[in-house]
Amino acid sequence: MGNSKRASWSGSLAFVLAAAASAIGLGNLWRFPYLAAQYGGGIFIAVYLVLVVTLGFTLMVTEIAVGRRTQQAPLTAYGLIEHKWGFIGLLGTLIPVLIVPYYCVIGGWVLYYLKAYAMMAFTGVNIMGEAAVNSGDVFGAFITSSFAPFGYGMLFILACAGVIILGVKNGIEKSNLVMMPILFIMALAISIYVIFLPGSGEGLKYYLIPNLDCVSVDGKFSVMMFARTILGATGQMFYSLSLAMGIMVTYGSYMKKADSIERCVRRIEIFDTLIAIIAGLMIIPVVYMFAIKTGTPVKEAMNAGPGLMFVTLPKVFAMFGAAGAWVGCAFFLLVTFAAATSAISLYEACVSSLCDFLGLERKTATVFMATTIMFLSSFSALGYGAWGDIKLFGMQFLDFFDFFTNSVLMPIVAIATCIFIGYFAGPKCIIEECEAEGQVFKAKKLYAFMVKYLAPALMVALLVSEVCRALGIGGWKI
Ligand code: PFF
Repeated sequence: MGNSKRASWSGSLAFVLAAAASAIGLGNLWRFPYLAAQYGGGIFIAVYLVLVVTLGFTLMVTEIAVGRRTQQAPLTAYGLIEHKWGFIGLLGTLIPVLIVPYYCVIGGWVLYYLKAYAMMAFTGVNIMGEAAVNSGDVFGAFITSSFAPFGYGMLFILACAGVIILGVKNGIEKSNLVMMPILFIMALAISIYVIFLPGSGEGLKYYLIPNLDCVSVDGKFSVMMFARTILGATGQMFYSLSLAMGIMVTYGSYMKKADSIERCVRRIEIFDTLIAIIAGLMIIPVVYMFAIKTGTPVKEAMNAGPGLMFVTLPKVFAMFGAAGAWVGCAFFLLVTFAAATSAISLYEACVSSLCDFLGLERKTATVFMATTIMFLSSFSALGYGAWGDIKLFGMQFLDFFDFFTNSVLMPIVAIATCIFIGYFAGPKCIIEECEAEGQVFKAKKLYAFMVKYLAPALMVALLVSEVCRALGIGGWKI
């Protein structure tokens, strides 16, 4: 199954950095802090950690081993192991094709905010008004305008295409070497700044100390509430580690046989979780302080997604006075890099699949994909403005693509993968790959158990709960 012409990483560190760069994205920055705040701080963090080293480990090892074993991107990888199961690859390729267009639109929003804060820091021009009280209006006006979200989204797509066209070593690896250290330094610097702000202590406690109320009803421990926390953490872990979207299969296919999959996965988990926890340290204490100062209920201030990043945080940065412009600039630079490295990995999964399936040159595949992504992203870019009236199942385009991929397709791919590996191909086919060239796979018993029983069970529970949440069945919402 070898493929001598296939690109490869320069070493295991380059692979770990690339996979971590993919994993560290908007999920770490705007989803983890919010979920931690909603699900009881320390309790959520503890559950999340356990899930990462068991469930996340299992799913990530599987995908990387499938890629390395077959030397193929997902579209053709699964079918090569067993023809009948090739549909997993088809679904696994459809997912990044649907995600990358809307992810790039959000990347465009981030670029716009980076420009706004850079202007504020370097020229003093402030489009958000002194106290950023109108940040909600600024954001609303931006995403509903007829050209700007499209234009910034295109810019973001072209920047990612520029990296992809240069290839695995010259494009992805080199861009990670620049973006990832800057991202880490910015995140550390902002979190240290926040920790030492006067009055941050209460917010830190809110984030880190387990809040038993979140798993209790009328003061008594509730299994149902605890199950909700577990499912919330499962969904987040799944999203955050870039699982079931073809990326890890693709990146695994560039990995050398001599590198230990197990060791690499452990390192990726550490990087990704560290950044998620640091993101909480950057965001939760200041949003908590802001909520107290303005009399906003804390839970309401800690809203997920766009509202937190583009509306609440600008108000928080405005509280810092002159320093706010610089903090905002550093923050949006780090978010730009986090979003870009994740978008690049999604894009690469599509390009690599096209190259393997149709035998296309990288350049041709990149240009073809860029055109497709631009076309598809116009729906999400204009979905809040010019095409605001068009809804899919009651959702705007961007929200629909997000729901359909993350809540439906991704759990289905993960369930199918576990069943395929656990009961048809057999865990041995993955374990063998992890033990290639004399490597030791310490957690192989845990792996075999997880892939057969616990992982599919948790994934089914996640799929059911996500669909119920979206359809409003059983009052299930966060
Ligand atoms: N794992 C990345 C993140 O946390 O943002 C990448 C990603 C996840 C991209 C989920 C897209 C997505 F739907």
